[in-house]
Amino acid sequence: MDLELTGKTAVVTGASRGIGLAVAESLSAAGARVIGAARTITPELEKATVANVSVDLSSQEGATALVDTALEELGGIDILINNVGGGSPDRLTLGGFLDSTDDQWRHFLDVNLFSAVWATRAALPSLLERRGAIVNVSSINAHLPSAGPVGYSEAKAALTAFGKRLSEEFGPQGVRVNTVSPGVVGTRIWRGSEWVGAKLAAAQGISHEQLLEALPDQFGIASGRISEPEEVAALVTFLVSGKAANIVGADLVIDGGTIKTS
Ligand SMILES: NC(=O)c1ccc[n+]([C@@H]2O[C@H](COP(=O)([O-])OP(=O)(O)OC[C@H]3O[C@@H](n4cnc5c(N)ncnc54)[C@H](OP(=O)(O)O)[C@@H]3O)[C@@H](O)[C@H]2O)c1
Repeated sequence: MDLELTGKTAVVTGASRGIGLAVAESLSAAGARVIGAARTITPELEKATVANVSVDLSSQEGATALVDTALEELGGIDILINNVGGGSPDRLTLGGFLDSTDDQWRHFLDVNLFSAVWATRAALPSLLERRGAIVNVSSINAHLPSAGPVGYSEAKAALTAFGKRLSEEFGPQGVRVNTVSPGVVGTRIWRGSEWVGAKLAAAQGISHEQLLEALPDQFGIASGRISEPEEVAALVTFLVSGKAANIVGADLVIDGGTIKTS
């Protein structure tokens, strides 16, 4: 299937590993010229892109610098993937609302919501000129708030609403905006030794390996397994392709059947 992505230009945030890296690789394989951004530029990312920007996207300066560089290097932006998100494990507590600090809330909002607001604001003039597409990578926690860390779920819910608003305002001008909401995906967040998966295992008094095995049961995943980054990337790539030309303002869930409501 020709995805009509040959020669398109794309910016992917949070692209050094995990879902962002898989998206950069997938878009690049489909013929797009990709610029990736993260604080660390990995060898895998360098292979998948035409250029990269090492930048902290939890600041407005960082997000704007990325778009400025992308405009210079690519001459314009057809596709923006607002993927950066999650949060630093040292800013995260697994407790309830009364355990959460303003610092945790602000950190989650900056990384998951404002990074997308800032990058989108800077990229929109070019996206409008080129009748481009945006995908925001949210989370099923936007729909299941208490299953995620305090402040994270709320930031993702706002990101999902932001995508809908953008699609209403800019759809009529030719820019398609959609949201992808993954359930549990096998990235460093879950598989890394100091991240959420490891922290949850410690909190439950089980080994990290036991937690990873138990995840499908704990989340009630109908397919019996978590998703892989490449599966999310395939969905994102389809959504920005010419084949999805009339998909606008959608929130596509990829969670193996975790969410139980229709
Ligand atoms: N994995 C899951 O189960 C899951 C489920 C639902 C939604 N999601 C969402 O999917 C997206 C990707 O998650 P992932 O699992 O692929 O995460 P990941 O493996 O931790 O990758 C996160 C990426 O973002 C970059 N990053 C993090 N903070 C940054 C910052 N302040 N400035 C610039 N870059 C930054 C990281 O690179 P550096 O550290 O080098 O900067 C990395 O490239 C996130 O929005 C996450 O919320 C993930």
